[in-house]
Amino acid sequence: MSIPRHVAIVMDGNGRWARARRLPRAAGHERGVERIHEVALACARRGVEYLSLYAFSTENWNRPRREVDGLLRLLSALMDRDVKTYVQDNLRLRLVGTVERLDRAFQEKVQAAIDLTRDNTGLTVCIAFDYGSRDEITRAARELAAGGIRPEQVTEEVVSQHLLTAGMPDVDLLVRCGGEIRLSNFLLWQSAYAELYFTEVLWPDFGEKELDMALDEFARRSRRFGSLDSGGSS
Ligand code: FPP
Repeated sequence: MSIPRHVAIVMDGNGRWARARRLPRAAGHERGVERIHEVALACARRGVEYLSLYAFSTENWNRPRREVDGLLRLLSALMDRDVKTYVQDNLRLRLVGTVERLDRAFQEKVQAAIDLTRDNTGLTVCIAFDYGSRDEITRAARELAAGGIRPEQVTEEVVSQHLLTAGMPDVDLLVRCGGEIRLSNFLLWQSAYAELYFTEVLWPDFGEKELDMALDEFARRSRRFGSLDSGGSS
């Protein structure tokens, strides 16, 4: 079975999951964070090399202060608590996004967590925090211009190397849960050739079974893509 090297997930639906249970939205986000570790381990067992998760977009700063603070606390908990188990589980942590808007102590905590898992050799869990594709591409263009690059030196490879995902392979499978059918400014450049998979399942309910459904669909599509004698019907 063909396994994607890089899976990206838009973890949507935490709020609706909580509302359905008459719980505060924060409870949905908490459950969502628990899912991250479970899905990461399941991906690692299946041979996925990179798992990118959209945890906080550049637009999420516009949410009510209380919710933003709650999400920051959850990121902080992930750095403190979960990262220790990442070491045991041979998972590597990477952050894709800017940490500029986080206070200094928080930035140091993020860096310490990344450093702690640097030598691991298993799946890389890539948390997209304060991330937006347009922002990322704009920054890359700005960086290249500031470096005085000549127009003919601007290639796709050079642009890729200036993105926050530098060194990572392109996304092979992009999953969005929560029923919306859009990309929401997530890894647009990196997903140029990705298979897209949308599911109604809310992120706090997304587990191993849902992951396998997405991987099966990916394998089916890859097989079709590779076939020359399918009669051109797909
Ligand atoms: C969308 O749910 C979810 C997010 C804002 C991103 C995913 C966040 C988590 C899994 C928890 C935080 C994780 C970290 C590492 C900080 P929503 O609130 O938009 O749900 P809704 O569409 O049902 O309202």
